[in-house]
Parts: sequence; C-alpha cells; structure tokens
Amino acid sequence: MAEPKKLFIKTYGCQMNVYDSERMAEVLGAEGYVTTDVQEEADMVLLNTCHIREKASEKLYSDLGRLKPLKAAKPDLKIGVAGCVAQAEGDEILRRMPLVDLVVGPQSYHRLPGMVDKLAQGGKAVDTEFPAEDKFNHMPERKVLRGPSAFLTVQEGCDKFCAFCVVPYTRGAEVSRPVERLLREARALVDRGVREITLLGQNVNAYHGAGAGGDWGLARLVRELARIDGLERIRYTTSHPNDMEDDLIAAHGDEPKLMPYLHLPVQSGSDRILKAMNRKHTREQYFRLVERIRAARPDILLSSDFIVGFPGESDADFADTMDLIRTVGFGASFSFKYSARPGTPAAEKAPVPAEVADARLQDLQALITAQQRAAQEAMVGREVGVLYEKTGRLPGQMVGKSDHLHAVHVTDPEARVGDLVRVRIKASAPNSLAGERL
Ligand code: 5AD
Ligand code: SF4
Repeated sequence: MAEPKKLFIKTYGCQMNVYDSERMAEVLGAEGYVTTDVQEEADMVLLNTCHIREKASEKLYSDLGRLKPLKAAKPDLKIGVAGCVAQAEGDEILRRMPLVDLVVGPQSYHRLPGMVDKLAQGGKAVDTEFPAEDKFNHMPERKVLRGPSAFLTVQEGCDKFCAFCVVPYTRGAEVSRPVERLLREARALVDRGVREITLLGQNVNAYHGAGAGGDWGLARLVRELARIDGLERIRYTTSHPNDMEDDLIAAHGDEPKLMPYLHLPVQSGSDRILKAMNRKHTREQYFRLVERIRAARPDILLSSDFIVGFPGESDADFADTMDLIRTVGFGASFSFKYSARPGTPAAEKAPVPAEVADARLQDLQALITAQQRAAQEAMVGREVGVLYEKTGRLPGQMVGKSDHLHAVHVTDPEARVGDLVRVRIKASAPNSLAGERL
C-alpha cells in the first residue's frame, strides 16, 4: 500500500473557516490524505484565507513567500489557497505567486477531489465559481472532532451589503442548509461525544432552511436541536440586529439549552455612520432590541464588533459610539480599524486620517476591555455551568467554558474532558475565571 500523503492546513480568520478547514480535511481524507501539524512533512499545504480586512489578506502573501524554500526543496509539494482571498483574488494569486498549484473558493470545496486529480497530472487547478449545487450534499460525513464543542454551519453568505464588507462578494448570497441535514449532522456529532454545538452563519439569525411544512427560522431549528438527548448547549453566531425575530428572542427566555450569550454586532453608535454603513437600523432601534433581549433573558451577555475610522466618522460620531457602548454594557467586544476593501462602496470614500483612527481605536479598546473585566468580576460568587474542553497546565486542573462563554479554570482531578459540571466562581483574572466544582 502507498504511504498516505500528508496534508497541512493553516486556517486564518473566522469560525466558519475553522469549520471549512475540517470539512476540507475530510474531503481530502477520502482522497488518501492524512493531516499533519508539521508543515515540513506535508505533501500538500493548504492555506484557508480571510479577506475581511487588508491585514488578513496580506498574511497570505507573506506566508506564501515563506513557503518558497520548502517548495524548492520538495518540488512535488502542492500548495493550495482556499477561502475568501482565493475567491476574491484568485487570478492575482496565481500571477504573483507561481508556486501556487491550486486556488479554490469557499463554495467549491466539494470539488477538491477532481482538482487534486488535475494536480496529479501536472496541471494547476482553479475553481472560484458559485456552483448551483449545495457543496455540503457532496461532502463526506464529519470525522475530525476536537473535544466536546463543535461548530455546525447552518447558513452561508450575506445579502446585507454593509458598505465596508466583502462577505457578500466572497461568500455570495445567503443560502440556508435544509433542516433535516442539519439535524442529521448534529445527531452524528452528539453520537460521537459532542455536547455543545455552535451554529454558524455569516448572518445566522437570517436562517430560513427548508423543513417539515415549509421554511424554518433559526428559533424553530434551535428548539428542534434542543430535543436531541445528549446535546446540552446551543449557541449561534453571527447575528444581524435586523434579523432578531420575536420567536428567537423568546427562545432565549424559555429554551434552557440556548446559552445566555449573544454576539450582536452594531459596528457604530452614530446614526449618521450607521446610515453610511448601510446597516439599516438606528442606535435607538438597537437599544430597544437589547431591552427586549434582556427582558427575555436578564443575565444574557452581549458582545459586539465595532469599526472605528469609517469614512466620514467625526469626533461627534465616535463619541456616539462610546456612548452606545457605555449605555449597553457589553460582556466582550471586538474592535477594528476601518480597512478599505476593493470593490465595496465605502472604499470609494475619503479615509479618516490614520492617527485619528488609531487614537479612537485605543480609546474604544480601553473601554471595551474595562467592560469585559467588569462582566467577569460580576461572575465572582455566582454558580455557573462549565463544559470542560481540555486539561489545564496545573496538575488536576480542567479548563472549560461557562454558560456565558468565559474561560474557567477548575481544580477537579477526577473529571474528564466533556464533563458538564456546576461551578462556583471564586476569582477573576484578566482573561479567565477560576472556580470550584460544586
Ligand atoms: N474594515 C474593518 N473591519 C471590518 N469588518 C468587516 N469588514 C471590515 C472592514 N472593511 C469587521 C466588522 C465585522 C467583523 C467580522 O469584521 O466589525 O462585524
Ligand atoms: Fe458583512 Fe455582516 Fe454586513 Fe453581511 S451583515 S455585509 S457579513 S458586516
């Protein structure tokens, strides 16, 4: 028997890329590839890229540059680029980096076997189409599993066209996977020890998949998943404020398996900027929405993304963003300096000076860090559920995630990865909590 070929995958960017990398490993597994963590051993290196900000896509070119000596030493090495940079800049990648053999966009991963055959014949393989067929119908069952918590992509793409964002171009139009397939995939995960599933989608709360009796929304899908014995926790990300339907908000109040954490990016607190961003909601509408969510689930932790230095952002606009953050009080937030992306409407507009954007980013990060600490501090003394994901560095120590998605360290020598336990929080460190098993 031939030695199995070795595949090294590097994943950049979002959780959906993490999921996609696992699925690509399975597709190529069926073609005789086993994964390796050692790049130098690989027969194929696959870079699964992110195009959301300029910095993210630049990483691809520097990593490809670093692969040159390896390719020179191993001429049979195949180098592939997948993900959103492949989708957006496929031709440019091939022109700038002749060492690349394969370019595959996010909607074409099921076609990898044919592409690999083409490489074996000595050619290059490129596929950045948006095929009509559902790639997931053509991919093998899931095999790669790391721990008791898994991702499940339920929806891909986005129709919102925020003025700064490449996702509608790189991931294409919104497509929801059918209910039955998701239930099957979820049951298979649970059969193999998964106890927590995070439903993924660029616009996950816009989910509307074909199910019994017609289209199902995300709330109905969550409620059906919650009936799976052995599945203890459900999360979903990322949501758009305008798609937070009443039944989904209600599920946060009455579905115990739906965890009390919600990532609900608002991007800016200025109505003028929200309008320029094509977000189609005001700050006041966001406040009302947060009130309704908290009425349903008072202890829910909210998180958001913020962009500073969007074209035209004035000091007053930025002050509105800071005010929104203070008013809402987030449990965690992610902040980014605006990055002009070719092909998006905002890229045509004059940028805010870099020093101004840098200063605003610093101010905003200080505020969200303080809020994150405060939210953690507020957990001290409380009893929470913790799902153990791995062992800690100290003897007998376990590390897991709380219901509110905090990392928690617990000394619990008898425990095993995958145990879901009750813990009393005793202390808060900068990026984690310490607790005692009850
Ligand atoms: N510049 C800066 N940040 C961006 N994001 C998306 N596009 C851009 C851009 N062009 C941020 C948004 C989004 C997160 C995933 O990345 O905040 O919610
Ligand atoms: Fe991008 Fe999210 Fe806006 Fe869609 S909703 S365009 S993914 S920022």
